[in-house]
Amino acid sequence: GQGCTHIFTIFGASGDLAKKKIYPTMWALYRDSLIPENTQVFGYARSDLKVEDIRKKCEPYIKLKSGEEETFEKFWAANQYVRGTYDKRTDFEHLNHALTRAEDNKRENNRIFYLALPSSVFMESTKHIRETCMAERGWTRVIIEKPFGYDADSSEKLSKHLSGLFTEEQLYRIDHYLGKEMVQNLMTLRFANNLYTRSWDRDSIASVTITFKEPFGTQGRGGYFDQSGIIRDILQNHLLQILCLAAMEKPASTSPDDIRDEKVKVLKTIPAITIEDCVLGQYVGDPNGKDEDSKLGYKDDDTVPKDSVTPTYAALVLRINNERWEGVPFIMRAGKALNERKAELRIQYRDVPGNIFSKTPSRNELVLRVQPNEAIYCKMMNKSPGMSFTMEESELDLTYRNRYADAKLPEAYERLILDVFVGSQMHFVRTDELREAWRIFTPILHKIEGEKVQPIPYKYGTRGPKEADELAAKNNFVYTG
Ligand code: BG6
Repeated sequence: GQGCTHIFTIFGASGDLAKKKIYPTMWALYRDSLIPENTQVFGYARSDLKVEDIRKKCEPYIKLKSGEEETFEKFWAANQYVRGTYDKRTDFEHLNHALTRAEDNKRENNRIFYLALPSSVFMESTKHIRETCMAERGWTRVIIEKPFGYDADSSEKLSKHLSGLFTEEQLYRIDHYLGKEMVQNLMTLRFANNLYTRSWDRDSIASVTITFKEPFGTQGRGGYFDQSGIIRDILQNHLLQILCLAAMEKPASTSPDDIRDEKVKVLKTIPAITIEDCVLGQYVGDPNGKDEDSKLGYKDDDTVPKDSVTPTYAALVLRINNERWEGVPFIMRAGKALNERKAELRIQYRDVPGNIFSKTPSRNELVLRVQPNEAIYCKMMNKSPGMSFTMEESELDLTYRNRYADAKLPEAYERLILDVFVGSQMHFVRTDELREAWRIFTPILHKIEGEKVQPIPYKYGTRGPKEADELAAKNNFVYTG
């Protein structure tokens, strides 16, 4: 409310995420008056910078419309920068003084800390925040970004550390896919439409595919990426969250904990992924590529070791061992440097039993396209219009730009950071969810890394290794064109 003050502090203020996402998000929320007008933003990092320097770094990522200039000035006037290390307690005390000075001691003062930091300084900085920077008259909320560890044990250690410092209500683990319009739409699609509720199970559905494709390589992020690989970067978090929302049972209510309880329950029924259910790839440059980036393979990135076996593509099959889903493969596919940008959920229905037509009807598919060009569409057979009695494939099509031409779909980060101000944890990852996610993925990661499993090379700009199509075909996915 307006009765209190809010300070939003960004640790890692000089970094990539801050300039590309967090500052532009804070600006958008401020411009649209979605956060209290008296919100102040503090940047914190090791470099000797001024607010003007941060502003210059961010400006390429902010598109100003005419008429916004004055508000933009006001936004930067409400910014401060504090220089400090992540390991010295005195630096955090110094930050706390600066925060206290900026607060009104007659009011409630709330503090949000956004940790856009490398994992190496994560433990220390959270400890210092807890010991020196907590709000004294108001709430404190801490936003954290992946990586949340690199396997089950390291993540458990981190979770223990964090729960020793903060309560679950103070912790906001970001998975920005949970802030996307179509991901948030999944609950409505499933639980507000009897048409789908009744056929959402093994009797009707043959397979479920969750896909993420990006048409560019690591683009200088090779150093980070090589520590992580596509499985940790995309599948273990973003795609698994989509799987949870697609597969979970109906929650008792829409309260954040009822929803997260159902996600945890379905995760608990998924056995660890096996190597037989896994295809890995790594991109190589295309000498005839259309731009410089596409001529470079993953290992041509200077920050990547020349003998790296880190996968930039993975197709995995997850199996859900419960009454609703037994026998329905959940196929996940994700890759960098592919032929297009796309994220979608594809539900493929079983063949029509007892076909009476001369032609075999193609399978129905219900597709939720997360990006680009948000849509829900359903592939179906339709009588070809006119005299003939033949049939053809058609679509029930809810493409957003046609149906909701004027709708403004906020950026994922805008929604999620606003949720933190409001105190809604519905779209954030709870500790027990994270634990289950790592349980499912750790054995396969250890096997791949322990045995240095060689990824299959695929050319930049293609669909990825053909072995992934073979894996999908073995798992009830029929290509319907
Ligand atoms: C991030 C990954 O979490 O998601 C990146 O670390 C990836 O590698 C990005 O590019 C994709 O997000 P979006 O919103 O562009 O699909």
